[in-house]
Amino acid sequence: MEHIPIRADTDVLAARQKGRALGLQAGFSSIDITLLATAISELARNILLYAHEGEIELRLLNEGGRRGIMVIARDQGPGIVDIERALQDGFSTSGGLGLGLPGVKRLMDTFELKSTYGAGTVVTAVKWELR
Ligand SMILES: Nc1ncnc2c1ncn2[C@@H]1O[C@H](COP(=O)(O)OP(=O)(O)O)[C@@H](O)[C@H]1O
Ligand SMILES: [Mg+2]
Repeated sequence: MEHIPIRADTDVLAARQKGRALGLQAGFSSIDITLLATAISELARNILLYAHEGEIELRLLNEGGRRGIMVIARDQGPGIVDIERALQDGFSTSGGLGLGLPGVKRLMDTFELKSTYGAGTVVTAVKWELR
């Protein structure tokens, strides 16, 4: 289990690297490792951009011998007013591409977004090894 505090660009890179290392440990293919690392980067960048600080937690899962990685991105930032819109391709409040959250949803096997306006955001997503 890893907790990576996210406060600066270098932390985004650190979270990405830890994700790659855990993916390797979980027996992921190099393509899946890259997809996982990309999802972690997007979530970490959102923390920096919208909440300024937060953390990425990475957990190695093992369910009946099948391994996976759970990514939990947490912050106590402003939260998201309209979650449904935030999950649509192209929606951005920062002039960005608006592909981060919907991208993470596509790249991972499970995806859950909980956000309370004014209190913070938690994204939980899992990627399982291919067998
Ligand atoms: N951690 C967060 N805290 C607050 N708002 C967020 C957070 N993550 C995403 N959002 C909101 O959801 C929108 C969509 O996010 P995303 O799909 O990553 O696109 P982008 O970052 O390019 O705008 C953001 O523009 C922002 O309004
Ligand atoms: Mg984004």
